[in-house]
Amino acid sequence: MTITGISHFSISSLLFSFFFLLSTFASSSSSYLYPVAPDKDGKTRSLYSEILRDEAVARLNELGKVSDADGYLERTFMSPASVRAGILIREWMEDAGLRTWVDSMGNLHGRVEGINASAQALLIGSHLDTVVDAGIFDGSLGIISAISALKVLKSNGKLGELKRPVEVIAFSDEEGVRFQSTFLGSAAVAGVLPVTALKISDKSGVTVQDALKGNSIDIAEESLLELKYDPASIWGYVELHIEQGPVLEWIGFPLGVVKGIAGQTRMKVTVRGSQGHAGTVPMSMRRDPMAAAAELIVLLESLCKHPREFLSDGGNYNEFTMESLSTSLVCTVGEISTWPSASNVIPSQVTFTVDLRAIDDVGREAALYELSNRMYQICDRRSVSCSIERKHDANAVICDPELSSQLKSAAYTALNGMIAEVQDEVPVLMSGAGHDAMALSYLTKVGMLFVRCRGGISHSPEEHVSDDDVWTAGLALLAFLETRV
Ligand code: GLV
Ligand code: MN
Ligand code: MN
Repeated sequence: MTITGISHFSISSLLFSFFFLLSTFASSSSSYLYPVAPDKDGKTRSLYSEILRDEAVARLNELGKVSDADGYLERTFMSPASVRAGILIREWMEDAGLRTWVDSMGNLHGRVEGINASAQALLIGSHLDTVVDAGIFDGSLGIISAISALKVLKSNGKLGELKRPVEVIAFSDEEGVRFQSTFLGSAAVAGVLPVTALKISDKSGVTVQDALKGNSIDIAEESLLELKYDPASIWGYVELHIEQGPVLEWIGFPLGVVKGIAGQTRMKVTVRGSQGHAGTVPMSMRRDPMAAAAELIVLLESLCKHPREFLSDGGNYNEFTMESLSTSLVCTVGEISTWPSASNVIPSQVTFTVDLRAIDDVGREAALYELSNRMYQICDRRSVSCSIERKHDANAVICDPELSSQLKSAAYTALNGMIAEVQDEVPVLMSGAGHDAMALSYLTKVGMLFVRCRGGISHSPEEHVSDDDVWTAGLALLAFLETRV
């Protein structure tokens, strides 16, 4: 994938907007903490709380119980729980009057043609897979809100009056937990999933192709290529998602419009040393991959906290890159494994993952370059071998300004329906989290709406969106469908 459409000007204005946004709203009241429908006759009923709030929340809770694990939520690509979740969502799509099918990457589609089946279609989507020990809103909120908004149109007899086809897609993989390669579903639809992805294996050696076959989906290279949508047949892509950060809650606003999404790289680092007896090998004679991995991880943390100190050598990077890294670079080691993993054995091998993100693609590459050089130096000094594999790269994405402004109006309409007078502007913010919209941006213009979540917490069972905010989100999608589609 190449760097597309991101100028230094636009990035600096994004950063500026983000911080402008924070300072502008920091002092605003929290009047939108608990939006309440006005008490005017008739108006409450027109807000469709039964469908957009009560039923949507019930469905989120029901879907949140569909898990491969006991006691916590986990649904990975093509797992038994993912298939069960797909069956449930399919029923809800059909209940909303959509024609449904599952494609050969396991994506679930629900479509209504409207008055002109050959007009360019609006795609609305998000993912049905989850991380391990997940919350119930990440991905699911976008799918369920879209279905609920279309169900309101069906109940009003307006579904058939849509001016263009609308297709809801529940993507099969966005988190990349099982195969460490995110967007398997959405990248296939966008036509940017390489055919080699079919051969990627999970920890048990099952390939993507095997995982699909295990669910009666036969996919070959040709059928993967056929999944790509014709860009000429698509009008745009909209995704509604929980914010997964604290900004909306902090400024007291239920919805925000996304201006852009940070780019990300995932890597697997393998460190190999000499396996030995914990009691007998003198410290000076050890080649311990665990201690080396610890040093590598601390290096990663330092570099991502203080990129200026690490990248200033040689003066290769301009001020823009340095500034954007200082404000947006984040790195995480989320998974680590060791062999043979016993308390009295010096391990022979340690493997860990690295997730690194930044708003500026040039800066992300610079950080990766510096990081790998320094990692190899540490491994040499410690006489262990070190291999760094890049598992996944996604460039930063800028959302379409026109679509974003339409979504902003829809959010405003939704809020205005719930609260008599909305004074403030709908906030505009950046996403540090990855979304299917990143893959879809290779196919069509994309726009995103964020929904406030409690404490900014996500990728955790603590993740929470209030019932009223679920309602507001559904109303915003409904307003978008009613006015723009
Ligand atoms: C997806 O949730 C990601 O940003 O990792
Ligand atoms: Mn997620
Ligand atoms: Mn998500």
